[in-house]
Amino acid sequence: MTRSFLTLADLSRDELARLIERARELKVQHRRGERHTPLAGKTLAMIFEKSSTRTRVSFEAGMAHLGGTAMFLSPRDMQLDRGEPVEDTARVISRMVDAIVIRANSHAMIERFAAHSRVPVINALSDRDHPCQLLADMQTWVEHRGPVAGKTAAWIGDGNNVCHSWIEAARLLGFHLRVATPKGYGPDAAIVREAGKSVSLGHDPATAADKADLIVTDTWASMGQEEEKTKRLRDFAGYTVDAALMRRAKPDALFMHCLPAYREHEVSSEVLDGPQSVVWDEAENRLHAQKALLEFLLK
Ligand code: CP
Ligand code: NVA
Repeated sequence: MTRSFLTLADLSRDELARLIERARELKVQHRRGERHTPLAGKTLAMIFEKSSTRTRVSFEAGMAHLGGTAMFLSPRDMQLDRGEPVEDTARVISRMVDAIVIRANSHAMIERFAAHSRVPVINALSDRDHPCQLLADMQTWVEHRGPVAGKTAAWIGDGNNVCHSWIEAARLLGFHLRVATPKGYGPDAAIVREAGKSVSLGHDPATAADKADLIVTDTWASMGQEEEKTKRLRDFAGYTVDAALMRRAKPDALFMHCLPAYREHEVSSEVLDGPQSVVWDEAENRLHAQKALLEFLLK
C-alpha cells in the first residue's frame, strides 16, 4: 500500500522516533561528506501553491543528496490553473514520478490528490498542518536536550497549522504542550480533542511559559491571511515572545520558530538572535529530517 505523509499522525510513535534517529544519522553522514544515494533514478515532483524558502530548498537539495531528482512545479504554469481536476492531475503525475510534495492552500486538496495518487504524497504545509516542520523541530529538540517525553513546551501566539502539528507531536512523543492564544485564535477543536491530556489551552502567555522547557511561536498572519494582518497585529498585542517571557521559562529553555520570523511582532530580535534560540538548527534540520522521510517512504 502507498504510504503518504499528510499529517504527523500518519506515523506511529515508533516510526516517528526512528525517523528522528535516522535524521540525526544522515546529518552526521552529510557533515562527513559521505555519499549515500539510495534514491538514484527516483524522481520527486513538488507542487507549491504558496511561497517557500526552507521547504523547497531542503526537499530539492535532499533529493539530490540521495541520488534522485526533484522538479519544482508552480500550479500557475500547470493545467491545474486552467481547470484540470486535482484528481486527474494526481493520476497523471503519479504515473511518472516516485513521490509528490504539495504545499497547498487547502488541506482537502492534498487529501484529494493523495486519494488518487499511486505514489506517496507529502504535505509540505497546508492550512491544517505542517508535519515536515515537526520532524525537524523534534530532531532539534532531541539534539539539544535529549528525550522529550515528560517535558513541557509552550506555544505562544496563533493556533495555526504549525501549532496543530505541535499538538500531534505532543501526543505521539509524550510531552505536554501548553497553548496560549488570544481568544478566537485557538487551535482546531478536533485536533485538541484527539490529543487528550497532552495539550492544555489558555490565553495567558506568562502562565503557559511558566517553567517550560521550550517556547515556540510562529507568525501571527499565515500565508493567505494577509488581509487580516492589521487586525491580527492588534489582537495579538501582548503575545510577543521577548526576554521577559523567556525568563518565566526554565533557565535552559530553548526558543523555536519555524521561520520566516517577523522581528518585534511574534518574537523580539533579542530572543530570536539570542543564546536560547535554536532556529537556525531547526531550519537546517528540515534537510536531514526530510531526507529521512524520503528514504522511509521510497525505499
Ligand atoms: N518553515 C517553512 O516551512 O519555511 P518556508 O515557508 O520557507 O518553506
Ligand atoms: N504558519 C505559517 C508557516 C510558514 C512556514 C504559514 O502558514 O504561513
